[in-house]
Amino acid sequence: MLSEKMTQALNEQLTFELFSGHLYLSMAAFCASKDLDGFANFFIIQEQEERFHAMKFFHYVNEKGGDVKIYALEQPETEFAGIEEIFTKSLHHERIVTSRINDLMTLAREENDYATQDFLQWFVREQVEEESTLDSLLKKLQLIKGEGQGLLMLDEKLAARQFTAPAVEE
Ligand code: FEO
Repeated sequence: MLSEKMTQALNEQLTFELFSGHLYLSMAAFCASKDLDGFANFFIIQEQEERFHAMKFFHYVNEKGGDVKIYALEQPETEFAGIEEIFTKSLHHERIVTSRINDLMTLAREENDYATQDFLQWFVREQVEEESTLDSLLKKLQLIKGEGQGLLMLDEKLAARQFTAPAVEE
């Protein structure tokens, strides 16, 4: 059984994952408006991953007998200076997610809630990958100064990205 405090914290994270998806869809829209369809595809897949993350919280809270609550989403940013700024902001956003997951883990430890610690461990690993993917793309964009043929090549590469639901237990 989850404590009331833990249930609320998990529900808040569920909504934050949905907000992450909302933000990435907004970034996808910006990329599409610049005809950078590969980058748009990258962020559309990011949105699908965030929904997958949100649903993991949904199923876990449910499975533990807690009441799932869905909260309002904030308005995501819609204006960006360019593609490099988008990656700077998305990396910053993922660092916030990591910090929130760490806070949840701290709470689970304080409450001796071993099941939730085990559940959160998947997210601890996932965040390493999330940050690393965005960091690597940001560095590439900085190398090519976010423009020219390099940008088009990267756009082409990102067009091939597909959503594959991560294994639930790895
Ligand atoms: Fe669900 Fe990108 O963190």
